[in-house]
Amino acid sequence: MLCLGIESTAHTFGIGIVNDKGKVLANQRSMYTTEKGGIHPIKATNHHILLCDELIKNALTEAKLKLSDIDLIAFAQGPGLGQTLRTGAVTARTLSKLLNIPLVGVNHCVAHIEIGKQKTKLEDPVTLYVSGANTQIIAYAGNRYRVFGETLDIGVGKFLDTVGRFMGTGFPGGPAIEKLAEKGKNYIELPYSIKGMDFSFSGVQTKVRQLVESKKHSNKDLAFSTQETVFAMLTEATERAVAHIGKNEVLLTGGVAANKRLTQMLEKMCKARGVKFEVCPRALSGDQGAMIAWQGIIEYSAGKRQKISETKVDGKWRTDQVEVNWIK
Ligand code: ATP
Ligand code: FE2
Repeated sequence: MLCLGIESTAHTFGIGIVNDKGKVLANQRSMYTTEKGGIHPIKATNHHILLCDELIKNALTEAKLKLSDIDLIAFAQGPGLGQTLRTGAVTARTLSKLLNIPLVGVNHCVAHIEIGKQKTKLEDPVTLYVSGANTQIIAYAGNRYRVFGETLDIGVGKFLDTVGRFMGTGFPGGPAIEKLAEKGKNYIELPYSIKGMDFSFSGVQTKVRQLVESKKHSNKDLAFSTQETVFAMLTEATERAVAHIGKNEVLLTGGVAANKRLTQMLEKMCKARGVKFEVCPRALSGDQGAMIAWQGIIEYSAGKRQKISETKVDGKWRTDQVEVNWIK
């Protein structure tokens, strides 16, 4: 079975093609970006509409397939921006009708976890999902993917992008902060804000802005201190989730999973606990269509069927609202 998956939850429009063994045959994407990285929903929507046809063609070429070879259409039904989500949903409905094949709408966050599990061979991990807009600690418990900890304000990726803007690094800030931090040595104390299992970044953000403006410290030291502080918060909460839920695997995914210092901290924590640790391969950790296609395959194979009338997008679809029919 071949599934074509469509991702359009935010600024990335992606088309992936995956087979029922989880092999990624194509993964084409295009990201709408602005200088500052802020997202303009109408412009992002126009970007998706304009590129849709080309990306589908490119994905078919990459996979050496024809449109008529596709057996199933999957699309991200939420969470995300209503307008951009609708571009993916409309594309999915059109392809499904045109080819006379089924379609399934899947949850974007859950798709991140399942493609990560497929590629790392982890079976039942605590997942730390760190991207621009999302920062969540998720694990499967009581027939659902439950969120055990999450950001109370912004996603850690967006936080790093904002800190990068204060320092004049350009967008995206995450990789730039990582580079700067490698050269930093002196730790400058920053607010460490964990509330129960949740964490927040706005306090740290304000403090870093003040410190950058004060010009008392180098950006290298500030980048270093920023990473040490917020990644320690994420590692601490992940460790507590592992301990409370009693899982013995940790999966790191999302765009920020590319960060070596975060990986190092989690690796150390997992080693000390005797827990297996894996990072989702980079090509599949950011937003893309292959994860949506794979999620479509596992849900369809487990019996999920949807009528067109049931494919309305849900911008606020929470991870723990997803009915998990594929884990027995
Ligand atoms: P989502 O819609 O799931 O929130 P997204 O649209 O933000 O995802 P991703 O590709 O998952 O997209 O993540 C992008 C984020 O990852 C950006 O904020 C970027 O700064 C951050 N990032 C990328 N590489 C690194 C890195 N090496 N270190 C830290 N952050 C990074
Ligand atoms: Fe994502």
